[in-house]
Amino acid sequence: MKTMKKIYITGGNSGIGAALTRHYLKQGHQVAVCSRQNRPLEGITQEESARLTSDQVNVLDKEALKESMNKFTTQHGPLDLVIASAGVSQNKGNKKLDFNEVREVMDINFYGTLNTFEVAIPFLNQASSQLVSISSVAGRMGLPRVAGYSASKSALITLCESLSLDLASQNISCTCILPGFVDTPLTRKNRHAMPFLMTSDKAALKIARAIEKKVPRYTFPLPMAIIVGILTILPRSLYLRLMKPAAEKMGVTR
Ligand SMILES: NC(=O)c1ccc[n+]([C@@H]2O[C@H](COP(=O)([O-])OP(=O)(O)OC[C@H]3O[C@@H](n4cnc5c(N)ncnc54)[C@H](OP(=O)(O)O)[C@@H]3O)[C@@H](O)[C@H]2O)c1
Repeated sequence: MKTMKKIYITGGNSGIGAALTRHYLKQGHQVAVCSRQNRPLEGITQEESARLTSDQVNVLDKEALKESMNKFTTQHGPLDLVIASAGVSQNKGNKKLDFNEVREVMDINFYGTLNTFEVAIPFLNQASSQLVSISSVAGRMGLPRVAGYSASKSALITLCESLSLDLASQNISCTCILPGFVDTPLTRKNRHAMPFLMTSDKAALKIARAIEKKVPRYTFPLPMAIIVGILTILPRSLYLRLMKPAAEKMGVTR
């Protein structure tokens, strides 16, 4: 019989996080989710909803995160898996460079994940556990108009790799997920083309498989992984030349 895992997912009631929550509930696991707004999770059975705990927590509030994880683990036992999916995009639509927006996005996407991992570590199963960060292909290079988003997702990639090295001796593995475009409330605001867009359910299956295999870094879908792989090995002056027309079309001003 499969053992029931205790799983904590930030941002677990929307988009990718919600699809992962539904996936793990279907598999018979005990799941806790948090987000700033309380949003009922759709598409789950009554039996599954009995295995779901939902808390209103801002990932920037470490005390609230601690209280939520403490409550969950006191009732159900130590955490086997923590997925930091809470995140925001950078699409206020400002043409002018907005450094405060860069800071806000960096705060939630990077420091929110850092808080989640820091608070979670004392609550982890000592025999074996896993920390997962949802980064993005946008973290592999500087994209126009989304400096905060690219920088925050880039920082998550190296954070996870360092933590993989630091925590391996304590039976904690780290996985960093780099999705391409996934159809969620976050991307529905986008006006630009989204090649290889996939549903959140399909993305969740791919992510869950990578988590199960404890892959250190997983980029998907494959065509996007190939394109991004090529763009990251180009000389940076050539990359900037290739991206110039797109950046000019966006017309960012200082
Ligand atoms: N969709 C894509 O194509 C795509 C691609 C690459 C990476 N990602 C990443 O995947 C993750 C999930 O994105 P998604 O597309 O599923 O977006 P989404 O549907 O907008 O979900 C984001 C979730 O994060 C929560 N959240 C945001 N700020 C928070 C905060 N300060 N504290 C607690 N919860 C917070 C949101 O709830 P509240 O607003 O109620 O707090 C929501 O539950 C994000 O990190 C995103 O950057 C997405």
